[in-house]
Amino acid sequence: MNATISSIGIYHPQKEIKNSYFEEFLDTSDQWIRERTGIENRYYASENEYTTDLCVKAVEALAKNHNTNLQEIDFIIVATSTPEQTLPSVASQVQTRMNIPHAGCIDISAACGGFVYGIILAKGLIASRTHRKILVIGAETLSKVTDFTDRSSCILFGDGAGAVIVEASTENHLFKVITDTHGSYGKDLYLSNKNIPINGMPIIPDNKIRQNGRVVFKWAVSTLTKKIEELVSKNDMTLDDINFFIPHSANIRILEAVCKELNIPMEKCLESIRNYGNTSEASIPLAWYDGIISGKVKPKDKLLLIGFGGGLTCAGICLQNNIEMK
Ligand code: UT7
Repeated sequence: MNATISSIGIYHPQKEIKNSYFEEFLDTSDQWIRERTGIENRYYASENEYTTDLCVKAVEALAKNHNTNLQEIDFIIVATSTPEQTLPSVASQVQTRMNIPHAGCIDISAACGGFVYGIILAKGLIASRTHRKILVIGAETLSKVTDFTDRSSCILFGDGAGAVIVEASTENHLFKVITDTHGSYGKDLYLSNKNIPINGMPIIPDNKIRQNGRVVFKWAVSTLTKKIEELVSKNDMTLDDINFFIPHSANIRILEAVCKELNIPMEKCLESIRNYGNTSEASIPLAWYDGIISGKVKPKDKLLLIGFGGGLTCAGICLQNNIEMK
């Protein structure tokens, strides 16, 4: 059974946080943040606004954008590292809040790779003919797990959500995929409230996101460079066949380094880092949506999505864009 993606919706919270916000309580500057990360702005959820709330708003936006009948959805996958509860899942709360009568529901944990992992799982469920219309959401409220005393990480993160529907189709628009993980780097990017070593290394168990930025940066550049080439060749394509690359937006310098290495013009790389910061699972749908709204991404364009992050893990897919805003 073939699959396509023809609808998208996004949401970001209302509270805008400019770089100058951090200058008030940290030894940092707007200039450092822009030059070292590309970030100019991000959004934070309010005190009583949680990941499920962001998901619901993104799904409402999707339904409005495409006049979608949500009742037909038969599975919901939410990729998040910041569910407000361990149980119940965010997906099951979306199911009840959106009155979707009979949907299987799971949350998945694959950090910034999660949205692409969600699409890959949905593609597999459709191929196996067990499901036909699957809601895949990437959503984070990272501001709730940010250590505001750590200047090397707190300036990075933002909150947001993006939703797409992966559905059975006569034509196939979702092509071959790649997945890869280097679990030995687990200690270099973690979020834990348990005093249990990772890879034998002691950790800070304070439920705040912690990363060894330089190590993750280097891993990201070398992994993305290799995996993008591997993915296009697995699809019998060349880099020139791809209209737009949408890697996870963690740092504009990662994207610039990968594009330089692969000789891809930066105009072909869509990002969400400038306006939203690093929103982990939400960063790819936010960049995709902005690409469509700005008129850059058109129906039939070939896209390469690739997520990477905590694990350290990565997942990529080539697809044909079938989303159009009427
Ligand atoms: O989304 C999941 C995957 N995550 C990533 O891919 C993140 C990858 N890593 C990064 O994006 C970057 O490593 C960071 C943005 C986290 C850090 O940038 P960097 O260019 O790697 O900085 P650095 O850690 O090498 O630090 C360079 C200097 C240090 O000062 P000294 O030791 O040279 O005096 C830091 O203390 O910059 C300093 N620094 C800052 N200065 C002003 C670190 N953070 C700040 C800051 N403002 N906010």
